[in-house]
Amino acid sequence: MVVYRVRVATGSYFLAGTLDSISVTLVGTDAESPKQLLDHIGRDFTPGAVHKYKVNSSCELGELLLVRLHKERYSFFPKDSWYCSYITVTDPGGVVTCFPCYQWIEGYCTVELRPGTGKIICYDSLPLLLDHRKKELRARQECYRWKIYAPGFPRMLDVNSFEEMESDRKFALTKMTPSADQGSSGNRYLPGFPSKIDIPSLLHMEPNIRYSFTKTASLLSNAIPASLGMKLRGLLDRKGSWKKLDDMRKVFCCHKTPTSEYVTEHWKEDHFFGYQYLNGVNPVMIHRLSSLPSNFPVTDPMVAPSLGPSTCLQAELEKGSIFLADYWILGDAPVGHLNGRPQYVAAPLCLLWLNPQGALLPLAIQLSQTPGPDTPIFLPSDSEWDWLLAKTWVRNSEFLIHENNTHFLCTHLLCEAFAMATLRQLPLCHPIYKLLLPHTRYTLQVNTIARATLLNPEGLVDKVTSIGRPGLLYLMSTGLAHFTYTMFCLPDNLKARGVQYIPNYYYRDDGMKIWEAIENFVNEIVNCYYPSDIFVQRDSELQAWVGEIFAQAFLSRKSSGFPSCLSTTEELVKFLTAIIFNCSAQHAAVNSGQHDFGAWMPNAPSSMRNPPPQTKGTTTLKSYLDTIPEVNISCNNLLLFWLVSQEPKDQRPLGTYPDEHFTEEAPRQSIAAFQNCLAQISQDIRNRNKTLALPYSYLDPPLIENSVSI
Ligand code: FE2
Repeated sequence: MVVYRVRVATGSYFLAGTLDSISVTLVGTDAESPKQLLDHIGRDFTPGAVHKYKVNSSCELGELLLVRLHKERYSFFPKDSWYCSYITVTDPGGVVTCFPCYQWIEGYCTVELRPGTGKIICYDSLPLLLDHRKKELRARQECYRWKIYAPGFPRMLDVNSFEEMESDRKFALTKMTPSADQGSSGNRYLPGFPSKIDIPSLLHMEPNIRYSFTKTASLLSNAIPASLGMKLRGLLDRKGSWKKLDDMRKVFCCHKTPTSEYVTEHWKEDHFFGYQYLNGVNPVMIHRLSSLPSNFPVTDPMVAPSLGPSTCLQAELEKGSIFLADYWILGDAPVGHLNGRPQYVAAPLCLLWLNPQGALLPLAIQLSQTPGPDTPIFLPSDSEWDWLLAKTWVRNSEFLIHENNTHFLCTHLLCEAFAMATLRQLPLCHPIYKLLLPHTRYTLQVNTIARATLLNPEGLVDKVTSIGRPGLLYLMSTGLAHFTYTMFCLPDNLKARGVQYIPNYYYRDDGMKIWEAIENFVNEIVNCYYPSDIFVQRDSELQAWVGEIFAQAFLSRKSSGFPSCLSTTEELVKFLTAIIFNCSAQHAAVNSGQHDFGAWMPNAPSSMRNPPPQTKGTTTLKSYLDTIPEVNISCNNLLLFWLVSQEPKDQRPLGTYPDEHFTEEAPRQSIAAFQNCLAQISQDIRNRNKTLALPYSYLDPPLIENSVSI
């Protein structure tokens, strides 16, 4: 008789423990142990605990290949979910093997776990293990099915597939009740919150695609105080214009941030308007011009007062100091009604100049893509309210493109597709699964909640934006059709836009440091498991993964430039770096500042109530207030900004991997080196920020989440 010593770790989440009966079978190259119940006197598998057991076998099992965990009914207790973190097995010779799990196991089922050693399929030859890979993926593909949300959208999780699954099977991730997409009789409004938040469904979703209780509670407690405050003051139901600009300052008196206060003070300034193209929430919009576009006939006399006597437009174009923000995509956007009144949208062109002092300043704004007598080109030399209204129209266009495309489409939806492909095509033992899984945490959850509360018909988007849901569908599908691999990869994106040499572009500077840190880390991991290009080419699971992303996220569009297969380790490193960067840093850059920059509503109006002006000299404070959103629309939008800018608790900053999917020494050293590098970047950012009137912290590594989770 030989004895194997087994340690079982249960996650420290609320309700992570189980009362079900847990047995184990150890499977080795030479033999299998008999199934043995893991049972001590007292309670087993309590949250956060590591329990030790002995498993007897009549003979040595050889090299351990699998651990089978059997979760079965215990006495009269109802079945419950169990979050198993990992299992370690020490063999009679003292060799310890770790079997990572890090998932909820629900229902009565058998789960098979492989040792933590990362293995690509090329290195597996035993039929038992090859079969295990196949079965694991088949089960996951049943569980995580693709769904078409709207034509031209990246495909997403079909939450119904969880409901259709059988209750008992291997690798089971079982029933989900009820789905947030469907709503349920438990739907209720948070006080004052304009959209239904289905609280029971947040808590009862299948555990592997649900927020933790801590995160849900934190999300709801963030929403309620802000909405209550506004409700009490009657603002969420008050239609009509703001009577004066100052009234808006009082709305969020309890929720000011240093940046939101700075915005309130400086929003009218051209310097600040230009600054936001570099370090605001949508820092991806401008590109350098070498000549003016034919539909934007700006002349020298128009810009001479801004440029001064020693230069001219042509000279500045040749110097590379002229930039354009082109909102062409809004040209055909449908427009809706709010509070029963028609709304309007513009498709502006905004010309900017990088002055010799290094400030980016707006030079001219045209509010339509078609020039003509009814489309004046607005200039800083126009009357105060004409110029401010023109800039506010641009800020409205920024809001629409930022929220729909830069933020939701290019981070939330694409990252969901990466998460789906990773879950469906890579088994638990695959090194790329181990690498990417932490960067998909809570992404399916937050998107499911967003679809149920924000994007659905009559959801928040319909209630606060001029373009409503039809416009959202149009913008995102058009945005995806024009989205390219160059735009997705930060270094290529910056180069293509010609913005490498603009001073004080902190998004770029911090983003590039983080990109390089991720790239070094990914390079080490890839080299660890892929000794040469041929292993990349022969890894059928990896090829299926990249193929699925190409088909499901980018709809097999060759024009996107996204890879449909990978041939070299270099290509793999670039693709993985871009995915991790966009799931973490890019999302932080475009998400975390929403309240900071949007709380002062005229800086980010969600809708405009009058058409763009066709002549100069007609705008007054009154007509300005009658054009920007009404009180209730502004307040509902502010609530949303407040909610999504607060990362709910249960965070995991970039580079932290408390779930130890990698168990070998080499990747663990790479993780430690990555963490050291991020700590140094953070130190540099904090030192730089001490010198700035408006610090840029969105890409400070400890403030970046590993994944899109809010
Ligand atoms: Fe977000």
